[in-house]
Amino acid sequence: MRKIYLFALFLVFAVYACTHSGQSELDKDLARIIGDRSQYLLPDPTKSLSDIPQSSANPLTPEKVALGKLLFFEPAFANEAKQDAGRYTYSCSSCHVPSAGFRPARHQGIADGGYGFGIQGETRIKYPTYPNDSIDAQGARPLSVLNVAFVTNSMWNGSFGSDGVNVGTEGVWGQFDPGTAINHERIGNLEGQNIEGLKVHRMLYTKEIVEANGYKELFDAAFPDVPLSERYNRKTASFAISAYIRSLITNEAPFQKWLNGNEDAMTAEQKRGAILFFGKLNCQSCHSEPNLGSMQFAALGVEDLFENGGIKTSINDRRNLGRGGFTGKEEDMFKFRVPQLYNLGDSGPYFHGASKETLEDVVRYFNNGVPENPRVPQEQLTYFLRPLGMTEQEIKDVTAFLKDGLHDPNLQRYVPERVISGMCFPNNDPLSKSDMGCN
Ligand code: HEC
Ligand code: HEC
Repeated sequence: MRKIYLFALFLVFAVYACTHSGQSELDKDLARIIGDRSQYLLPDPTKSLSDIPQSSANPLTPEKVALGKLLFFEPAFANEAKQDAGRYTYSCSSCHVPSAGFRPARHQGIADGGYGFGIQGETRIKYPTYPNDSIDAQGARPLSVLNVAFVTNSMWNGSFGSDGVNVGTEGVWGQFDPGTAINHERIGNLEGQNIEGLKVHRMLYTKEIVEANGYKELFDAAFPDVPLSERYNRKTASFAISAYIRSLITNEAPFQKWLNGNEDAMTAEQKRGAILFFGKLNCQSCHSEPNLGSMQFAALGVEDLFENGGIKTSINDRRNLGRGGFTGKEEDMFKFRVPQLYNLGDSGPYFHGASKETLEDVVRYFNNGVPENPRVPQEQLTYFLRPLGMTEQEIKDVTAFLKDGLHDPNLQRYVPERVISGMCFPNNDPLSKSDMGCN
């Protein structure tokens, strides 16, 4: 009797040891393929803001981040709407929805002139009284603002920011897109972009407006050194919003936990996917920065947004030209920036033209290696677009790594409980309010 008891105890121990004791073969393989873990490790914004990449013109402080965390969601500043029906109904977050990975769960974001929300922004449609060309919507799938601190030149075409890959492009700043003239101010890519963004997205900040909405004290706390005459405007609002979005870091994703030594954080499937991603498939040759994006530009030959339901865009949209639309250079035509890869599983579709519904579709596109956009000349296409010969199991593994291994489950920590106006956010139109149960 006692022997059986001891044997059972041994079995339990043996099973436990096999599943929990330190490194498995997969962990060893992944560790070997990754090499220096610090190259992919994201900073923890709760530990220190100084580890986050930032502009010397806008050093991060807790006060700026706290203010930006409200402004990003606040419909009270949606005051330059094209029609009365649109006033005070939208925010940055209309198109950058936290639960959808800080993108909307649809092919195109609509702020002013949009109506409804659904659960993650998926049912938002154009408001009937707005003509197509007066809504606020762009001709590309919204990029996520997660891990955006690692982007030195923002947008799909890298047009914002005065350093990084834009050194030497000074001559075209402001040429094709007047907004990019802000690069001359050299205040940081996001800081500059978001000043222009507040105009594009129809949000005005003045002392009177800031005061009337109850935000004066927060601006004072965030910008004590800025003279009063310059303290309440689009520039300070942009600086606060930029500080906040720089703090949006997916450091709680399983892959990040694994990098920090917690081998149980990832499943075997995710680990096999990561081994393929960083190893044999060589995805990290482009997706190489800590956010798993980079400042490289490549033509994958994917479709544009006008082909996938986008409104207020067309075959002639300059955004379809990618980097070439910004620089005007032949060699840059149809090349798009390599995007970050965290929390993409929260919402499709994928690619700049929203042509793929699921992450598995994206992996299959890479595996097939056949371009889908006939307007992209053969010689522009990346060498990488060729059949990869993956097995069905390998496709599943890489998809699992992307979908779950790179998924931070706790983005809610970046969302305020309420905004000062008390309005429904991210959207405040009647249909969104009813969708979200704000009443
Ligand atoms: C109407 C939808 C919409 C609204 C509203 C909106 N965005 Fe965006 N955002 C986009 C789209 C689309 C892109 C990608 C455009 C491109 O690259 O051509 C983008 C890109 C960005 C990027 C660049 C990310 C990167 O990786 O380069 C940042 C930063 C950003 N938005 C911040 C904001 C802020 C801050 C606000 C509020 C002031 C805002 N957005 C409001 C749609 C929107
Ligand atoms: C040659 C550079 C390059 C390589 C190598 C590469 N990618 Fe990408 N990846 C890109 C670019 C550029 C985009 C955006 C293309 C576009 O939308 O026009 C992209 C987009 C993606 C997206 C969609 C992101 C989004 O926001 O819609 C995923 C997912 C992705 N890549 C995964 C992978 C995987 C997995 C591999 C390896 C099989 C890989 N990539 C290899 C350049 C590359």
